[in-house]
Formats: sequence, C-alpha cells, structure tokens
Amino acid sequence: MLISPSLELFLLFSIVLLTIITVPILSRSLKLRAIPTLGSTTWVGSYSSAIKNFGGISEIVQEGYDKYKGIPFKIPTLSNWMVIVSGNKLIEEVKRAPEEHLSAVEAINDAFQIAFTIGEEVARNPYHFAIIKTSLTRQLTGLFPSIDDEITLTLSEVFGSEDNEWENVVAFDAIRKVVSRASNRVFVGLSLCRNPGWLELSSRVASDVIVSATTMNLFPRFMWPLVAKFVTSTSRNTRQGNEYLGPVIRERQKRRATRLQDGNQADTPNDFLQWLIDNDTETSEWEITQRILVMVFASIHSFVPVLYNLAAHPEYLKPLREEVDSIVHQDGWTKIAIDKMHMVDSFLKENHRLNCISSLVGVRRVRKDFTFSDGRVVPRGCDIAIPLSAIHHDEEIYSSSNTFDPFRFSRLHIDQNDPRQQLVSLNSDFLTFGHGKYACPGRFFSTTLQKTLLARIVTLYDLKLEDNAPSTMKTIELGVFVAPDPTTRVFMRRRML
Ligand code: HEM
Ligand SMILES: *[C@@H]1O[C@H](CO)[C@@H](O)[C@H](O)[C@H]1NC(C)=O
Repeated sequence: MLISPSLELFLLFSIVLLTIITVPILSRSLKLRAIPTLGSTTWVGSYSSAIKNFGGISEIVQEGYDKYKGIPFKIPTLSNWMVIVSGNKLIEEVKRAPEEHLSAVEAINDAFQIAFTIGEEVARNPYHFAIIKTSLTRQLTGLFPSIDDEITLTLSEVFGSEDNEWENVVAFDAIRKVVSRASNRVFVGLSLCRNPGWLELSSRVASDVIVSATTMNLFPRFMWPLVAKFVTSTSRNTRQGNEYLGPVIRERQKRRATRLQDGNQADTPNDFLQWLIDNDTETSEWEITQRILVMVFASIHSFVPVLYNLAAHPEYLKPLREEVDSIVHQDGWTKIAIDKMHMVDSFLKENHRLNCISSLVGVRRVRKDFTFSDGRVVPRGCDIAIPLSAIHHDEEIYSSSNTFDPFRFSRLHIDQNDPRQQLVSLNSDFLTFGHGKYACPGRFFSTTLQKTLLARIVTLYDLKLEDNAPSTMKTIELGVFVAPDPTTRVFMRRRML
C-alpha cells in the first residue's frame, strides 16, 4: 500500500550496500551476543526481517515475549538494534537510569524523526513538555467548560442531532474531528479550532509524521537528511500552518508588548498558543507554528476503538449512563464530576489495554553502554523498548486477558480503594502513556478529554454495529504503529431525552 515491491527491492539493495560500510552496527552486534535475537542473526537475514518489520512488528514482539518474558531480547531495525525488556525488575532498571544514560528525548525524537518531520528547534529544545506539565495540566479545571462545549457542539455536528434516526458514521473521521476540535480549542482558541483548513492541516500533519518517520527509519542515520528531502513535507506544512497562525501570532505579540507596558491583563486569551507567546523562548512565527504542530501531532491519538466497543457491547451503556447521570446530577458537567467517574475511566482504560496504538513503548536511546543487573550489556547507540501490547495481553497480569471486561479496573479501584487503578496512573503493568519521568506529559489533558467525550456520548447517543461487523475492530499496522481501519463504521442514534 505504502511501498511497492520494486521500491522494496531497491531499498534492500541500497541499504545492504551502504550499511556494509557502517562498522558501528557490527561492533554493536558483537557486544550484543548475550542477548537472544528474534528472527535471523545473519546480516542479510536481519536486513530482510527488518524490511518485513515495516509491515508491522506486533507478531514478532509477541513471539519474543512468549519465549523470553522477563529477559531482554532483540529485534533488528534497519539502522539499529531494538532491545526489548519486560518484567517489573528490568522495567524498573530502565526507568531508574538517568536521561544522560538512557535518553527518552533522543529516542522519541528519532522514532518520530521530529527534527525532520516537525522542525529542528522542536527536537533540540522540547520546552513544550514543561508547558504541558505546568500551564495545561494545572489549568484543566478552568479550561474544562471550553473542552466540554467544543465536544458537545462537534458531536451534534458529526453524529447528527435528529432524534431517533440511526446514522451510519465513519468512526475515524468523526472521532478525529471531535478530538481535533476540542484539543485545538485549547491549543489555538475558538476561531481557529473550527477553521476547516486548519483542521485538515492538523490531521494531515499527524499522519505525515507517522508515515515519513517510519520510512526514514528504514535508512541508516547518515542518510536521513537526504531521505527526508523525498519523504517529508515539513516546509510546506509549516508554511501552510503559518498562513493560519501567523496573523494571530503577530497580533498577540503586539498586544503582549502593550500589556507589558500598561499592565492591563484584560482580554488576554488563555490557550497554548498564548502560553508559548508569553513564555518568549521562541519569537519567530515559523518556530511557534512548528511548536503548535507538534502539539497537534501528539494529541491526535485514536478514540476509535472506544466507540467501536461501545457499539459492540451496548449492554454497557446502561451502567455507564447511571454513573454519569448520578454524578452530573450532583456536580453538574464539571471537571470535578469527570474526576469522579470511575466506570467511565475504567471503560477507557480497558480499551487502551486491548487496543494499543503502538507495539512498543517507553523507547530509550542508550548513550553509554548499559548493563542490566544480570550482567547483560546493551551497547551505546541501541534502543531499549517495552512490549506494550504483549504485556497488556499477558494472562499472568490480567485474568481472561483477551476478554473485554470494561469494569475490571473500577472493580479493583472500589474493592481495594486503590486510586492507582486510574487511567492516568503509570505502572509497569499498564503502559499506554509510557513510564518514568518521560511518560506522556499530555495524559491528564487527554484523559479529561476522553472521559468527557465518553460521558457525553453515552448520555446523548445509542450505538450499534453494522450487521455482520466483526466483534473486534480491524486495525492496520505500519512498523511499530497500530491504527484503526479508517473505513470502520458504527451506527449512532440521538437519544430522546
Ligand atoms: C490517548 C492519548 C495519548 C496517548 C496514548 C499518549 C501516549 C504517549 C506515549 C506512550 C508517549 C511516550 C512516552 C515514553 O516513551 O515513555 C507520549 C509522549 C508525549 N505525549 Fe502523549 N499520549 C496521548 C495524548 C497526548 C496529548 C493530548 C498530548 C498533548 C497535550 C501529548 C503530548 C505528548 C508529548 C509532548 C510527548 C513527548 C514526545 C513528543 O513530543 O512526541 N500526548 N505520549
Ligand atoms: C518558559 O518555559 C521554560 C520551560 O518551562 C521555563 O523554564 C521558563 O522559565 C519559561 N519562561 C518564561 C518567561 O515563562
């Protein structure tokens, strides 16, 4: 689909030739002998399995996990070795290592090729992490009414507002629109978040990054700048983004200058763009635009499986509605109310457990040789990652692990009074948001958004699948990424309230 057979051959040929002169990988392989390999260990063999991995690695990772659970194993990528670790003990060791030793920033930058797909400055100075953690996360209560407003309005546009009519909707397009508008309302404000051109650009950037980064990662590092010229559309995306954002940025910078003189805070917008402008680390329109585009990219993760599972299991609508109704009756539609919805939280968490957007998570780049407590060494330059999906399906961790049991986490939360069962909590058995200091900084925002969206959907709609639809949603894989089949449809009907 994305890559033709002749291109594949050409890739294989040129890469084998080029990489023969890259000795570092050979020396890494020697040092890595103590770590078992999944797939071929010969040179050409490992290249061809790396090429195959382009079409999805979930199967090979699962195979490795079944064979080597609790000890590290490795799989080849074209330019590197990926060492995969599981079990609390090893995950703890990785988590404890400082950034100078195992780098999350470097690994994530390379996995998404941020410098080439978004912008060099975004990769070099990721100060937006800190702004997400501080301004965005701390102001969620105050931002909640806008998020909820944008969700409710968009829902009635995409799923219809006519009572009692079943509408057959393309889940992917509808959900992308709601999530993108609600996120953009917080990122760039009311007017732009509804601009069709900006929304179109947002979703194009999100998929461009994934496809270009996966293609670039087929090549050795020294070829990236060259390959990027062919497979990325970064300057075009930034230029187009700047057409929308530029005038807003200029206007707001002017107002900020006046404000700094006369001290009048009135009418200052409260959104991510404004926090970037007030922060003043970057002042060029071009750089601020790229900073917003990385946010847009990071936030477009899929809620599609949630919608699908609601439609596949309509029996859960009733208990979810009961929870939402009784809490909203008391607290209204507020952030406080959303925080109290444990069944809604659990339903989402169970979806994330079973439908991972990536086969691997928590990637770290080894900056100096790393030794596990059992003496095994991972040499500088390799990556270490965690088999997200395999862990989430482990029968020893989750009983009936392949069964969709949406209230398994809320039962534990209530029975054991254990708040760590919540979606935002990080632990080595549930890794949707990664682990450690570099876990997803957007998870509090994202969880609030998803819970509000789910609570509003169950309140406003009935759902069902098309006749003969499979009971679990179809997905497509690209490298480490797993995405919902974009043609997936569900039936929605506005309830009569
Ligand atoms: C369901 C939604 C989301 C999921 C599953 C998710 C998951 C993740 C994961 C697994 C990581 C890497 C952590 C690691 O390697 O240990 C990450 C990084 C990150 N996430 Fe999220 N995330 C979500 C939503 C968001 C949102 C809404 C934002 C923005 C507000 C965000 C911003 C980021 C940023 C800035 C990073 C750092 C890397 C980068 O810039 O690409 N995420 N996320
Ligand atoms: C900008 O953000 C960075 C990262 O959070 C912070 O260290 C710096 O103090 C901020 N600058 C201003 C002027 O707020």
